[in-house]
Amino acid sequence: MSDKVYPVPAQWKKRALVNDEQYKKMYAESITAPDKFWAKHAKRLDWFKTPKKIKNTSFAYDNVSIKWFEDGVLNVSVNCIDRHLKKRADQTAIIWEGDDPYYDKKITYRELYEQVCRFANVLKKQGVKKGDRVTIYMPMIPEAAYAMLACARIGAVHSVVFGGFSPDSLAGRINDAQSKFVVTADEGLRGGKKVPLKANTDEALKKCSGDEKVVVIRRTGGAVAMQAGRDVWYHEEAAKVPAECKPEKMKAEDPLFILYTSGSTGKPKGVLHTTGGYLLFASMTHQYVFDYHDGDIYWCTADVGWVTGHSYILYGPLANGATTLMFEGVPNYPTASRFWEVIDKHQVNIFYTAPTAIRALMGAGEDFVKRTSRKSLRLLGSVGEPINPEAWEWYHRVVGDDRCPIVDTWWQTETGGILITPLPGATKLKPGSATRPFFGCKPALVDDKGEFLKGEASGNLVILDSWPGQMRTVYGDHERFVQTYFSAYKGMYFTGDGCRRDKDGYYWITGRVDDVLNVSGHRLGTAEVESALVSHPKVSEAAVVGYPHDIKGTGIYCYVTLMAGEQGSDILRKDLVTHVRKEIGPIASPDLLQFAPGLPKTRSGKIMRRILRKIAEDEFGNLGDTSTLADPAVVDDLIANRQNKK
Ligand code: WT7
Repeated sequence: MSDKVYPVPAQWKKRALVNDEQYKKMYAESITAPDKFWAKHAKRLDWFKTPKKIKNTSFAYDNVSIKWFEDGVLNVSVNCIDRHLKKRADQTAIIWEGDDPYYDKKITYRELYEQVCRFANVLKKQGVKKGDRVTIYMPMIPEAAYAMLACARIGAVHSVVFGGFSPDSLAGRINDAQSKFVVTADEGLRGGKKVPLKANTDEALKKCSGDEKVVVIRRTGGAVAMQAGRDVWYHEEAAKVPAECKPEKMKAEDPLFILYTSGSTGKPKGVLHTTGGYLLFASMTHQYVFDYHDGDIYWCTADVGWVTGHSYILYGPLANGATTLMFEGVPNYPTASRFWEVIDKHQVNIFYTAPTAIRALMGAGEDFVKRTSRKSLRLLGSVGEPINPEAWEWYHRVVGDDRCPIVDTWWQTETGGILITPLPGATKLKPGSATRPFFGCKPALVDDKGEFLKGEASGNLVILDSWPGQMRTVYGDHERFVQTYFSAYKGMYFTGDGCRRDKDGYYWITGRVDDVLNVSGHRLGTAEVESALVSHPKVSEAAVVGYPHDIKGTGIYCYVTLMAGEQGSDILRKDLVTHVRKEIGPIASPDLLQFAPGLPKTRSGKIMRRILRKIAEDEFGNLGDTSTLADPAVVDDLIANRQNKK
């Protein structure tokens, strides 16, 4: 832990939207008078019908129900596009930077309007109706944004699936959402490598109902198989439809999107976000956390396949009439200077990325940064996992030239937007701390019995009351929503994170306390990796835990017990890694895999993950209580054959 404090720089005090005093006042109002506070801030959106009912929420275990602005009527695409046309039709809405540094493109708000309307008309012609789920499996190209906004325009519910997921993962998500429409591209392009998105879609659809329709964007021009009656080319269809499309009038609580995310058990769940509260929260957090002013160039390096891409590449920035940069590539292609070169090329003022990228670029050395100017930068942001103080200091000193505050933003797919964060004009920074709650967020720490911890303390992070951006349910399974988030501590939303609060009331997120791994800022359930492993014919049992990894934050450590008669070997190890990549996607690649003749179990047969975690973390001096082990010898074997971390 670092105890260094960085005060708000003088020039920030002058230009920032809120200072410390204003933050405290607004925060207090948001907690003591939420109806008044949110009614006032709801005015930042354009409503067909202004809401009169503001907050109607309950965290009671037997009645979890979350509704915001329920009598309001609006359309997200109107808020992100149409309403800006009067003032900023010719302003750039999206700067697209291709994988290849020679390709970029600027899309004005007027062009965005036409593109989204056209896309909406193409979807309608394919039969998409209000409430239908549309799966979007796309590379980071402007058409991904058009497709999402087009769904919002016609009241369809998008379910974006990250382009790095396997055909199996895609199929699972299409089926769970009962989605009959898929939007994809021929191929994606990342770091000069092609990703066979259409071929993956073909593979996935073999496991689906058979009555899906597919819209294919041409990105690389690579050869793909088109199935007549099922697949159409977007460019052919777009040429046949008008560039005007009337927006649907949506109720505030109508669904906007589903996004699948991993939990500690079972298959990924469909996190459902609705229209009014989500957009309001995304837009408001984007403006205050990044201190967004008109004309600023803003870049969030996430992929639209994750919630960060939804809220902070698309919906938040566009609702605010911002210029948002969308990057197709990766941080180290063609070189480790790429991020900083893009910042100079497009004169980026606000830059938002993940600790894993910062650590990887830190490893590449300062030269890659220092050969660029970065004078345009004013603010830096971090998201996705705890940022270690060394990476924070490097980001601040080397990337930001000691000039730019860093907003370390804590939130989750479930929260829709940022919940714990500094505000750059208001908050003194401490490297490694997400600092203080955003407006409307009431965090608390509880011990394992659910008792509140006061003052300086470490415990489980819970949120005591609802905020507008909160997920409303798990798609198709409200009971799972209640069990996952509201059963551990009755009457509270449990985040799954551990957290420390210091003497100044600052929050320090310490990471997941459940069986969720955060690998390079991507969420994975240990159960998902285990089920991928045991689906291999030679595997009888598997247990997966995380361990500290220099770049990824958490690495994936797998203990695998083979079927009787099978022998562990390097070839089989590689085969199993390939198998997991194929089942889930490359982000789930095991880092270390140990063949274990037996796993430590209690006498009732429960795997003792605590012990497996300690061994993976190299902490076998400190295994804790092992007296309940059915067979203590198992542990000695595991320690003796532990896989080494390089
Ligand atoms: C989990 C949520 C939020 C969008 C990206 C990830 C971890 C996220 C931070 C942060 C420490 C963080 C938490 C959280 N996390 N941001 N600033 N400091 N931890 O969304 O995939 O839903 O993952 O990411 O563990 O629970 P996600």
